[in-house]
Amino acid sequence: MTTTRGPGSGQADGKAEATRRSFLKSTAVATALPAVATTALGANVFEIRREGSAAGRPAGPNDRVRIATVGMGIIGFIDTRTALKVPGTELVAVADLYEGRRVHAREAFGDHVKAYVDYREVLARPDVDAVLLCVPDHWHARMSIDAMKAGKAVYCEKPMVQKIPEGREVIAAEEQTKSVFQVGSQFASSLVYEKARELIAAGAIGAINSVEARYNRNTPLGAWRYTIPPDASPETVDWDRFLGSAPKRPFDAERFFRWRNFKDYGTAVAGDLFVHLLTGIHKATGSLGPNRVFGTGGLRYWKDGRDVYDFIMGLLEYPESKEHPAFTLALQCNFEDGGGDGTLFRFVGSDGVLRVNFTELTLDRTGIKEPTREAVLKGYNSVVTFSDAMQKRLAETLKVDPPFVAPRTGAASYPEKFRVPAGYDERYDHFVNFFASVREKTPVYEDATFGLRAAAPALLCNESQATGAVKGWDPVAMKVTGRVTVS
Ligand SMILES: NC(=O)c1ccc[n+]([C@@H]2O[C@H](COP(=O)([O-])OP(=O)(O)OC[C@H]3O[C@@H](n4cnc5c(N)ncnc54)[C@H](O)[C@@H]3O)[C@@H](O)[C@H]2O)c1
Repeated sequence: MTTTRGPGSGQADGKAEATRRSFLKSTAVATALPAVATTALGANVFEIRREGSAAGRPAGPNDRVRIATVGMGIIGFIDTRTALKVPGTELVAVADLYEGRRVHAREAFGDHVKAYVDYREVLARPDVDAVLLCVPDHWHARMSIDAMKAGKAVYCEKPMVQKIPEGREVIAAEEQTKSVFQVGSQFASSLVYEKARELIAAGAIGAINSVEARYNRNTPLGAWRYTIPPDASPETVDWDRFLGSAPKRPFDAERFFRWRNFKDYGTAVAGDLFVHLLTGIHKATGSLGPNRVFGTGGLRYWKDGRDVYDFIMGLLEYPESKEHPAFTLALQCNFEDGGGDGTLFRFVGSDGVLRVNFTELTLDRTGIKEPTREAVLKGYNSVVTFSDAMQKRLAETLKVDPPFVAPRTGAASYPEKFRVPAGYDERYDHFVNFFASVREKTPVYEDATFGLRAAAPALLCNESQATGAVKGWDPVAMKVTGRVTVS
Protein backbone atom coordinates (compact mmCIF):
# COMPACT_ATOMS: atom_id res chain seq x y z
CA MET A 1 0.00 0.00 0.00
CA THR A 2 3.03 2.28 -0.09
CA THR A 3 2.12 4.73 -2.78
CA THR A 4 3.65 7.92 -1.50
CA ARG A 5 5.27 9.77 -4.31
CA GLY A 6 7.76 12.54 -4.32
CA PRO A 7 6.62 16.07 -4.83
CA GLY A 8 5.76 17.06 -8.36
CA SER A 9 5.52 13.55 -9.72
CA GLY A 10 2.47 14.40 -11.76
CA GLN A 11 -0.65 12.27 -12.04
CA ALA A 12 -0.82 9.17 -9.88
CA ASP A 13 -0.92 5.76 -11.47
CA GLY A 14 -4.52 4.61 -11.27
CA LYS A 15 -4.33 1.39 -9.19
CA ALA A 16 -1.92 2.61 -6.53
CA GLU A 17 -3.83 5.87 -6.26
CA ALA A 18 -7.11 4.02 -5.81
CA THR A 19 -5.56 1.92 -3.01
CA ARG A 20 -4.15 4.97 -1.24
CA ARG A 21 -7.45 6.79 -1.47
CA SER A 22 -9.36 3.77 -0.22
CA PHE A 23 -7.03 3.71 2.83
CA LEU A 24 -7.92 7.30 3.49
CA LYS A 25 -11.61 6.63 3.14
CA SER A 26 -12.12 3.22 4.75
CA THR A 27 -10.54 3.60 8.17
CA ALA A 28 -13.78 4.50 9.83
CA VAL A 29 -13.43 4.42 13.59
CA ALA A 30 -15.22 7.23 15.34
CA THR A 31 -13.35 8.23 18.49
CA ALA A 32 -14.21 10.55 21.32
CA LEU A 33 -12.93 14.10 21.14
CA PRO A 34 -9.56 14.50 22.85
CA ALA A 35 -9.75 15.59 26.46
CA VAL A 36 -8.55 18.91 27.78
CA ALA A 37 -6.10 18.71 30.69
CA THR A 38 -4.57 21.29 33.00
CA THR A 39 -1.26 21.74 34.79
CA ALA A 40 -0.74 24.16 37.68
CA LEU A 41 1.41 27.17 36.75
CA GLY A 42 1.01 28.93 40.08
CA ALA A 43 -1.64 29.72 42.62
CA ASN A 44 -4.98 29.55 40.83
CA VAL A 45 -3.39 29.77 37.36
CA PHE A 46 -3.53 26.69 35.17
CA GLU A 47 -2.19 25.86 31.75
CA ILE A 48 -4.67 24.11 29.47
CA ARG A 49 -3.29 21.33 27.29
CA ARG A 50 -4.81 18.89 24.87
CA GLU A 51 -4.56 15.20 25.67
CA GLY A 52 -4.78 12.37 23.20
CA SER A 53 -4.41 14.67 20.21
CA ALA A 54 -3.26 13.29 16.90
CA ALA A 55 -1.12 16.42 16.50
CA GLY A 56 2.21 14.90 17.43
CA ARG A 57 1.51 11.53 15.91
CA PRO A 58 3.69 10.93 12.86
CA ALA A 59 1.69 9.94 9.82
CA GLY A 60 2.63 6.64 8.21
CA PRO A 61 3.87 6.64 4.64
CA ASN A 62 0.52 5.28 3.52
CA ASP A 63 -1.66 7.94 4.96
CA ARG A 64 -0.22 11.07 3.46
CA VAL A 65 -2.95 13.53 2.63
CA ARG A 66 -2.42 15.52 -0.53
CA ILE A 67 -3.92 18.95 -0.42
CA ALA A 68 -4.62 21.80 -2.82
CA THR A 69 -5.58 25.34 -1.87
CA VAL A 70 -8.06 27.35 -3.88
CA GLY A 71 -7.60 31.08 -3.22
CA MET A 72 -3.99 32.00 -2.41
CA GLY A 73 -4.79 35.31 -0.75
CA ILE A 74 -4.03 36.27 2.83
CA ILE A 75 -5.68 33.32 4.55
CA GLY A 76 -4.81 30.96 1.70
CA PHE A 77 -1.12 31.29 2.57
CA ILE A 78 -1.77 31.13 6.32
CA ASP A 79 -4.04 28.08 6.07
CA THR A 80 -1.70 26.26 3.70
CA ARG A 81 1.33 26.84 5.93
CA THR A 82 -0.65 25.71 8.97
CA ALA A 83 -1.99 22.62 7.21
CA LEU A 84 1.54 21.67 6.11
CA LYS A 85 2.72 21.71 9.74
CA VAL A 86 0.44 18.75 10.42
CA PRO A 87 2.51 15.59 9.90
CA GLY A 88 1.75 13.69 6.71
CA THR A 89 0.41 16.51 4.55
CA GLU A 90 1.69 17.59 1.17
CA LEU A 91 0.70 20.48 -1.10
CA VAL A 92 0.33 19.48 -4.74
CA ALA A 93 -1.64 22.31 -6.33
CA VAL A 94 -3.13 25.76 -5.90
CA ALA A 95 -5.61 27.86 -7.82
CA ASP A 96 -5.94 31.63 -7.86
CA LEU A 97 -7.23 34.34 -10.17
CA TYR A 98 -4.42 36.86 -9.69
CA GLU A 99 -1.17 36.05 -11.43
CA GLY A 100 1.03 37.49 -8.67
CA ARG A 101 -0.43 35.07 -6.13
CA ARG A 102 0.03 32.05 -8.39
CA VAL A 103 3.66 33.12 -8.82
CA HIS A 104 4.13 33.59 -5.09
CA ALA A 105 2.55 30.25 -4.23
CA ARG A 106 5.28 28.52 -6.25
CA GLU A 107 7.96 30.82 -4.79
CA ALA A 108 6.79 29.88 -1.31
CA PHE A 109 6.02 26.18 -1.73
CA GLY A 110 8.15 25.11 -4.69
CA ASP A 111 7.89 24.79 -8.44
CA HIS A 112 6.55 21.27 -8.08
CA VAL A 113 3.27 22.81 -6.94
CA LYS A 114 1.03 23.22 -9.96
CA ALA A 115 -0.80 26.57 -10.11
CA TYR A 116 -4.15 26.82 -11.89
CA VAL A 117 -6.57 29.60 -12.68
CA ASP A 118 -9.67 27.39 -12.84
CA TYR A 119 -10.37 25.54 -9.55
CA ARG A 120 -12.17 22.81 -11.48
CA GLU A 121 -8.79 21.65 -12.79
CA VAL A 122 -7.70 21.14 -9.19
CA LEU A 123 -10.84 19.13 -8.49
CA ALA A 124 -10.23 16.98 -11.56
CA ARG A 125 -6.86 15.77 -10.21
CA PRO A 126 -7.23 12.27 -8.74
CA ASP A 127 -4.18 12.76 -6.50
CA VAL A 128 -5.79 15.60 -4.54
CA ASP A 129 -7.39 14.23 -1.36
CA ALA A 130 -8.44 17.46 0.30
CA VAL A 131 -9.00 21.06 -0.76
CA LEU A 132 -8.70 24.20 1.31
CA LEU A 133 -11.21 26.74 0.02
CA CYS A 134 -9.87 30.21 0.88
CA VAL A 135 -11.86 32.28 -1.59
CA PRO A 136 -14.27 35.20 -1.09
CA ASP A 137 -17.57 34.34 0.55
CA HIS A 138 -19.68 34.34 -2.63
CA TRP A 139 -17.72 31.30 -3.83
CA HIS A 140 -17.91 29.18 -0.66
CA ALA A 141 -21.07 27.17 -1.31
CA ARG A 142 -20.48 26.59 -5.04
CA MET A 143 -16.90 25.39 -4.58
CA SER A 144 -17.71 23.30 -1.50
CA ILE A 145 -20.45 21.44 -3.34
CA ASP A 146 -18.32 20.96 -6.47
CA ALA A 147 -15.40 19.71 -4.37
CA MET A 148 -17.47 17.24 -2.37
CA LYS A 149 -19.05 15.94 -5.59
CA ALA A 150 -15.54 15.48 -6.98
CA GLY A 151 -14.77 13.22 -3.99
CA LYS A 152 -12.56 15.65 -2.10
CA ALA A 153 -12.46 16.34 1.61
CA VAL A 154 -13.16 20.03 2.10
CA TYR A 155 -11.87 22.63 4.54
CA CYS A 156 -13.95 25.68 3.63
CA GLU A 157 -13.22 29.05 5.18
CA LYS A 158 -15.88 30.83 7.20
CA PRO A 159 -18.59 31.96 6.85
CA MET A 160 -19.77 28.68 5.34
CA VAL A 161 -22.20 30.47 3.04
CA GLN A 162 -22.85 33.96 1.75
CA LYS A 163 -26.63 33.45 1.66
CA ILE A 164 -28.70 31.41 4.11
CA PRO A 165 -30.48 29.17 1.52
CA GLU A 166 -27.06 27.95 0.33
CA GLY A 167 -26.61 26.31 3.73
CA ARG A 168 -29.12 23.53 3.05
CA GLU A 169 -27.43 22.83 -0.29
CA VAL A 170 -24.03 22.39 1.36
CA ILE A 171 -25.54 20.16 4.07
CA ALA A 172 -27.26 18.08 1.38
CA ALA A 173 -23.99 17.65 -0.55
CA GLU A 174 -22.21 16.64 2.66
CA GLU A 175 -24.90 14.04 3.37
CA GLN A 176 -25.06 12.71 -0.19
CA THR A 177 -21.33 12.45 -0.81
CA LYS A 178 -20.34 11.46 2.77
CA SER A 179 -17.36 13.73 2.28
CA VAL A 180 -15.38 15.08 5.18
CA PHE A 181 -16.39 18.73 5.33
CA GLN A 182 -15.12 21.20 7.90
CA VAL A 183 -15.74 24.91 8.13
CA GLY A 184 -12.63 26.96 8.89
CA SER A 185 -13.75 28.79 12.04
CA GLN A 186 -10.86 27.72 14.20
CA PHE A 187 -12.52 28.63 17.52
CA ALA A 188 -14.44 25.36 17.08
CA SER A 189 -11.22 23.45 17.83
CA SER A 190 -9.77 25.89 20.34
CA LEU A 191 -8.62 24.70 23.75
CA VAL A 192 -10.00 27.93 25.15
CA TYR A 193 -13.60 27.23 24.13
CA GLU A 194 -13.32 23.57 25.08
CA LYS A 195 -12.29 24.67 28.56
CA ALA A 196 -15.08 27.26 28.63
CA ARG A 197 -17.53 24.53 27.71
CA GLU A 198 -16.20 22.25 30.43
CA LEU A 199 -16.46 25.00 33.07
CA ILE A 200 -19.96 26.11 32.03
CA ALA A 201 -21.20 22.50 31.94
CA ALA A 202 -19.71 21.86 35.40
CA GLY A 203 -21.72 24.75 36.82
CA ALA A 204 -18.84 27.18 37.36
CA ILE A 205 -21.02 30.20 36.48
CA GLY A 206 -24.33 28.68 37.57
CA ALA A 207 -27.25 29.14 35.18
CA ILE A 208 -26.07 31.18 32.19
CA ASN A 209 -28.29 34.21 31.53
CA SER A 210 -26.32 36.32 29.04
CA VAL A 211 -23.21 36.46 26.89
CA GLU A 212 -21.43 39.57 25.66
CA ALA A 213 -18.84 39.29 22.91
CA ARG A 214 -16.97 41.89 20.93
CA TYR A 215 -14.42 41.98 18.16
CA ASN A 216 -13.16 45.56 17.78
CA ARG A 217 -10.45 47.06 15.58
CA ASN A 218 -8.77 50.43 15.07
CA THR A 219 -6.58 50.22 11.95
CA PRO A 220 -7.12 50.57 8.18
CA LEU A 221 -5.89 47.01 7.66
CA GLY A 222 -8.30 45.82 10.34
CA ALA A 223 -11.00 47.72 8.44
CA TRP A 224 -10.17 45.73 5.28
CA ARG A 225 -8.17 48.40 3.41
CA TYR A 226 -5.72 45.83 2.08
CA THR A 227 -2.98 46.90 -0.34
CA ILE A 228 -3.81 46.70 -4.04
CA PRO A 229 -0.81 45.67 -6.20
CA PRO A 230 0.16 48.26 -8.87
CA ASP A 231 -0.03 45.63 -11.62
CA ALA A 232 -3.72 44.90 -10.96
CA SER A 233 -5.44 44.85 -14.36
CA PRO A 234 -7.67 42.65 -16.50
CA GLU A 235 -4.42 41.11 -17.80
CA THR A 236 -3.28 39.90 -14.37
CA VAL A 237 -6.70 39.20 -12.85
CA ASP A 238 -9.39 36.86 -14.18
CA TRP A 239 -12.18 39.30 -13.37
CA ASP A 240 -15.10 37.46 -15.00
CA ARG A 241 -14.26 34.28 -13.15
CA PHE A 242 -14.05 36.23 -9.88
CA LEU A 243 -17.56 37.62 -10.40
CA GLY A 244 -19.05 34.15 -10.79
CA SER A 245 -22.72 34.44 -9.82
CA ALA A 246 -22.34 38.09 -8.73
CA PRO A 247 -23.73 40.88 -10.95
CA LYS A 248 -21.62 41.62 -14.05
CA ARG A 249 -19.64 44.86 -14.02
CA PRO A 250 -16.38 46.19 -15.52
CA PHE A 251 -13.02 45.37 -13.95
CA ASP A 252 -12.53 47.07 -10.59
CA ALA A 253 -9.32 46.36 -8.64
CA GLU A 254 -10.86 47.77 -5.46
CA ARG A 255 -13.66 45.20 -5.63
CA PHE A 256 -11.27 42.36 -6.41
CA PHE A 257 -8.66 43.04 -3.72
CA ARG A 258 -11.04 44.55 -1.13
CA TRP A 259 -14.05 42.37 -1.90
CA ARG A 260 -15.19 42.33 1.78
CA ASN A 261 -16.26 45.98 1.38
CA PHE A 262 -18.96 45.03 -1.13
CA LYS A 263 -22.17 43.12 -0.53
CA ASP A 264 -21.95 41.26 -3.84
CA TYR A 265 -18.95 39.20 -2.67
CA GLY A 266 -18.67 39.41 1.12
CA THR A 267 -20.97 39.15 4.11
CA ALA A 268 -20.15 42.48 5.82
CA VAL A 269 -18.73 42.72 9.32
CA ALA A 270 -21.24 40.33 10.88
CA GLY A 271 -20.57 37.60 8.32
CA ASP A 272 -16.83 38.07 8.66
CA LEU A 273 -16.47 38.41 12.42
CA PHE A 274 -19.74 37.70 14.28
CA VAL A 275 -19.39 34.24 12.80
CA HIS A 276 -16.19 33.70 14.82
CA LEU A 277 -17.90 34.91 17.98
CA LEU A 278 -20.95 32.74 17.34
CA THR A 279 -18.73 29.73 16.72
CA GLY A 280 -16.97 30.23 20.07
CA ILE A 281 -20.28 30.76 21.89
CA HIS A 282 -21.97 27.75 20.30
CA LYS A 283 -18.93 25.66 21.09
CA ALA A 284 -18.81 26.82 24.72
CA THR A 285 -22.54 26.50 25.43
CA GLY A 286 -23.45 23.59 23.15
CA SER A 287 -26.18 25.84 21.77
CA LEU A 288 -27.90 25.31 18.43
CA GLY A 289 -28.61 29.01 18.08
CA PRO A 290 -30.96 31.94 18.70
CA ASN A 291 -34.60 32.32 17.69
CA ARG A 292 -34.68 36.14 17.51
CA VAL A 293 -32.02 38.32 15.91
CA PHE A 294 -31.68 42.08 15.77
CA GLY A 295 -28.75 43.91 14.19
CA THR A 296 -28.17 47.65 14.22
CA GLY A 297 -25.29 49.88 13.16
CA GLY A 298 -24.02 51.87 10.20
CA LEU A 299 -21.11 53.27 8.23
CA ARG A 300 -19.50 55.72 10.64
CA TYR A 301 -15.82 56.15 9.75
CA TRP A 302 -14.44 54.19 6.78
CA LYS A 303 -16.37 56.09 4.10
CA ASP A 304 -14.07 54.94 1.30
CA GLY A 305 -16.67 53.81 -1.22
CA ARG A 306 -17.65 50.59 0.53
CA ASP A 307 -21.31 49.62 0.46
CA VAL A 308 -21.29 47.93 3.89
CA TYR A 309 -21.39 49.33 7.43
CA ASP A 310 -18.33 49.45 9.69
CA PHE A 311 -20.04 49.27 13.09
CA ILE A 312 -22.65 46.76 14.21
CA MET A 313 -24.26 45.49 17.35
CA GLY A 314 -26.34 42.34 17.41
CA LEU A 315 -28.88 41.29 20.02
CA LEU A 316 -29.80 37.64 19.85
CA GLU A 317 -32.24 35.74 22.03
CA TYR A 318 -31.36 32.11 22.77
CA PRO A 319 -34.42 30.12 23.89
CA GLU A 320 -34.21 27.55 26.66
CA SER A 321 -33.11 24.19 25.28
CA LYS A 322 -31.81 20.92 26.65
CA GLU A 323 -28.31 22.33 26.23
CA HIS A 324 -28.80 25.55 28.26
CA PRO A 325 -31.29 27.90 29.95
CA ALA A 326 -32.57 30.90 27.99
CA PHE A 327 -29.91 33.58 27.54
CA THR A 328 -29.42 36.82 25.64
CA LEU A 329 -26.37 37.48 23.49
CA ALA A 330 -24.99 40.94 22.76
CA LEU A 331 -22.43 41.10 19.95
CA GLN A 332 -20.37 44.05 18.76
CA CYS A 333 -17.85 44.77 16.01
CA ASN A 334 -16.47 48.28 15.87
CA PHE A 335 -13.86 49.09 13.22
CA GLU A 336 -13.18 52.53 14.67
CA ASP A 337 -12.68 51.71 18.32
CA GLY A 338 -10.38 54.55 19.39
CA GLY A 339 -9.34 52.60 22.46
CA GLY A 340 -7.96 49.77 20.33
CA ASP A 341 -10.17 47.40 22.23
CA GLY A 342 -9.83 43.84 20.97
CA THR A 343 -11.77 40.66 21.42
CA LEU A 344 -13.49 39.57 24.58
CA PHE A 345 -16.29 37.28 25.67
CA ARG A 346 -18.18 37.42 28.98
CA PHE A 347 -20.28 34.38 29.79
CA VAL A 348 -22.53 35.56 32.63
CA GLY A 349 -24.35 33.30 35.06
CA SER A 350 -25.94 33.73 38.46
CA ASP A 351 -22.94 32.15 40.22
CA GLY A 352 -20.13 33.79 38.28
CA VAL A 353 -18.68 35.30 35.12
CA LEU A 354 -16.24 33.70 32.72
CA ARG A 355 -14.13 36.20 30.77
CA VAL A 356 -12.54 34.71 27.69
CA ASN A 357 -10.07 36.06 25.14
CA PHE A 358 -7.95 34.23 22.55
CA THR A 359 -5.55 32.77 25.10
CA GLU A 360 -7.00 33.03 28.57
CA LEU A 361 -10.06 32.31 30.69
CA THR A 362 -10.71 34.11 33.97
CA LEU A 363 -13.42 33.00 36.34
CA ASP A 364 -15.03 35.37 38.83
CA ARG A 365 -17.29 33.51 41.26
CA THR A 366 -18.58 36.47 43.23
CA GLY A 367 -22.13 35.26 42.61
CA ILE A 368 -25.32 36.89 43.83
CA LYS A 369 -24.79 37.74 47.49
CA GLU A 370 -27.17 37.70 50.44
CA PRO A 371 -26.94 41.12 52.16
CA THR A 372 -25.59 41.18 55.71
CA ARG A 373 -27.95 41.83 58.58
CA GLU A 374 -26.19 45.18 59.05
CA ALA A 375 -26.80 46.10 55.39
CA VAL A 376 -30.53 45.31 55.59
CA LEU A 377 -31.12 47.14 58.87
CA LYS A 378 -28.73 50.10 58.62
CA GLY A 379 -27.53 50.28 55.02
CA TYR A 380 -28.95 51.65 51.75
CA ASN A 381 -32.39 50.10 52.24
CA SER A 382 -35.89 51.19 53.13
CA VAL A 383 -35.66 50.00 56.76
CA VAL A 384 -33.95 53.16 58.09
CA THR A 385 -36.93 55.23 56.85
CA PHE A 386 -39.46 53.32 58.98
CA SER A 387 -40.55 54.19 62.52
CA ASP A 388 -38.31 53.10 65.36
CA ALA A 389 -40.92 50.53 66.37
CA MET A 390 -41.00 49.05 62.87
CA GLN A 391 -37.19 48.99 62.67
CA LYS A 392 -37.11 47.14 66.01
CA ARG A 393 -39.71 44.67 64.80
CA LEU A 394 -37.84 44.02 61.58
CA ALA A 395 -34.61 43.56 63.52
CA GLU A 396 -36.31 40.86 65.58
CA THR A 397 -37.90 39.05 62.63
CA LEU A 398 -35.11 39.39 60.07
CA LYS A 399 -33.33 36.18 60.87
CA VAL A 400 -36.45 34.10 60.23
CA ASP A 401 -36.96 35.51 56.69
CA PRO A 402 -36.20 32.87 54.04
CA PRO A 403 -33.12 33.83 52.03
CA PHE A 404 -33.91 35.02 48.51
CA VAL A 405 -30.53 34.07 47.10
CA ALA A 406 -30.47 30.54 45.71
CA PRO A 407 -27.69 28.19 46.82
CA ARG A 408 -24.78 27.97 44.36
CA THR A 409 -24.49 25.18 41.88
CA GLY A 410 -21.36 23.20 40.99
CA ALA A 411 -18.27 22.61 43.04
CA ALA A 412 -17.43 24.94 45.93
CA SER A 413 -14.18 26.17 44.42
CA TYR A 414 -12.75 26.47 40.92
CA PRO A 415 -9.37 27.62 39.68
CA GLU A 416 -9.53 31.27 38.71
CA LYS A 417 -7.39 31.47 35.60
CA PHE A 418 -6.54 29.21 32.66
CA ARG A 419 -4.00 29.91 29.93
CA VAL A 420 -3.08 28.16 26.73
CA PRO A 421 0.60 27.23 26.35
CA ALA A 422 2.87 29.88 24.77
CA GLY A 423 2.63 29.76 20.98
CA TYR A 424 -0.66 27.86 21.01
CA ASP A 425 -2.46 28.09 17.66
CA GLU A 426 -6.10 27.02 17.48
CA ARG A 427 -5.91 27.07 13.68
CA TYR A 428 -3.29 24.32 13.87
CA ASP A 429 -5.59 22.29 16.13
CA HIS A 430 -8.42 22.86 13.66
CA PHE A 431 -6.29 21.41 10.88
CA VAL A 432 -5.13 18.51 13.07
CA ASN A 433 -8.77 17.69 13.68
CA PHE A 434 -9.59 18.05 9.99
CA PHE A 435 -6.82 15.70 8.86
CA ALA A 436 -7.67 13.22 11.61
CA SER A 437 -11.19 13.15 10.16
CA VAL A 438 -9.84 12.74 6.63
CA ARG A 439 -7.63 9.81 7.68
CA GLU A 440 -9.80 8.10 10.25
CA LYS A 441 -13.28 9.34 9.45
CA THR A 442 -13.64 10.71 12.98
CA PRO A 443 -16.35 13.36 13.24
CA VAL A 444 -15.22 16.82 12.21
CA TYR A 445 -15.30 19.62 14.77
CA GLU A 446 -17.37 21.91 12.60
CA ASP A 447 -19.55 20.20 10.03
CA ALA A 448 -21.95 21.89 7.62
CA THR A 449 -24.77 21.90 10.17
CA PHE A 450 -22.61 23.61 12.78
CA GLY A 451 -21.37 25.93 10.03
CA LEU A 452 -24.87 27.00 9.02
CA ARG A 453 -25.93 27.43 12.65
CA ALA A 454 -23.02 29.83 13.15
CA ALA A 455 -23.38 31.65 9.82
CA ALA A 456 -27.15 32.14 9.65
CA PRO A 457 -27.56 34.29 12.80
CA ALA A 458 -24.68 36.48 11.59
CA LEU A 459 -26.31 36.87 8.15
CA LEU A 460 -29.64 37.64 9.83
CA CYS A 461 -27.90 40.46 11.74
CA ASN A 462 -27.05 41.91 8.31
CA GLU A 463 -30.66 41.59 7.12
CA SER A 464 -31.90 43.18 10.32
CA GLN A 465 -29.35 46.01 10.09
CA ALA A 466 -30.45 46.70 6.51
CA THR A 467 -34.21 46.61 7.14
CA GLY A 468 -34.65 47.46 10.82
CA ALA A 469 -36.70 44.30 11.31
CA VAL A 470 -36.21 41.71 14.03
CA LYS A 471 -35.57 38.38 12.28
CA GLY A 472 -36.93 35.02 13.39
CA TRP A 473 -34.81 31.86 13.15
CA ASP A 474 -35.58 28.25 14.01
CA PRO A 475 -32.23 26.97 15.28
CA VAL A 476 -33.31 23.32 15.25
CA ALA A 477 -34.85 23.18 11.78
CA MET A 478 -32.36 25.83 10.55
CA LYS A 479 -35.06 27.91 8.87
CA VAL A 480 -35.85 31.59 8.77
CA THR A 481 -39.23 31.96 10.47
CA GLY A 482 -41.82 34.45 9.33
CA ARG A 483 -42.96 35.33 12.80
CA VAL A 484 -40.78 36.21 15.75
CA THR A 485 -41.51 34.16 18.86
CA VAL A 486 -41.27 35.93 22.19
CA SER A 487 -40.88 33.65 25.20
N1 LIG B 1 -10.68 31.65 9.65
C1 LIG B 1 -10.10 32.83 9.67
O1 LIG B 1 -9.52 33.25 10.67
C2 LIG B 1 -10.11 33.67 8.44
C3 LIG B 1 -9.26 34.78 8.35
C4 LIG B 1 -9.27 35.52 7.18
C5 LIG B 1 -10.12 35.18 6.13
N2 LIG B 1 -10.96 34.12 6.25
C6 LIG B 1 -11.87 33.77 5.15
O2 LIG B 1 -11.09 33.32 4.05
C7 LIG B 1 -11.66 33.74 2.83
C8 LIG B 1 -10.60 34.50 2.02
O3 LIG B 1 -10.22 35.66 2.71
P1 LIG B 1 -8.84 36.41 2.41
O4 LIG B 1 -8.71 37.47 3.40
O5 LIG B 1 -7.75 35.43 2.29
O6 LIG B 1 -9.16 37.05 0.97
P2 LIG B 1 -8.10 37.49 -0.12
O7 LIG B 1 -8.77 38.49 -0.99
O8 LIG B 1 -6.80 37.87 0.51
O9 LIG B 1 -7.86 36.17 -0.96
C9 LIG B 1 -8.88 35.58 -1.74
C10 LIG B 1 -8.20 34.94 -2.94
O10 LIG B 1 -9.19 34.16 -3.63
C11 LIG B 1 -8.92 34.26 -5.02
N3 LIG B 1 -10.15 33.94 -5.74
C12 LIG B 1 -11.29 34.65 -5.80
N4 LIG B 1 -12.21 34.01 -6.53
C13 LIG B 1 -11.61 32.88 -6.95
C14 LIG B 1 -12.03 31.82 -7.78
N5 LIG B 1 -13.25 31.78 -8.32
N6 LIG B 1 -11.15 30.83 -8.05
C15 LIG B 1 -9.89 30.83 -7.53
N7 LIG B 1 -9.44 31.82 -6.73
C16 LIG B 1 -10.30 32.82 -6.45
C17 LIG B 1 -8.46 35.67 -5.23
O11 LIG B 1 -7.67 35.76 -6.38
C18 LIG B 1 -7.67 35.95 -3.95
O12 LIG B 1 -6.28 35.75 -4.13
C19 LIG B 1 -12.87 34.59 3.20
O13 LIG B 1 -14.03 33.84 3.07
C20 LIG B 1 -12.64 34.97 4.63
O14 LIG B 1 -13.83 35.15 5.36
C21 LIG B 1 -10.95 33.36 7.37
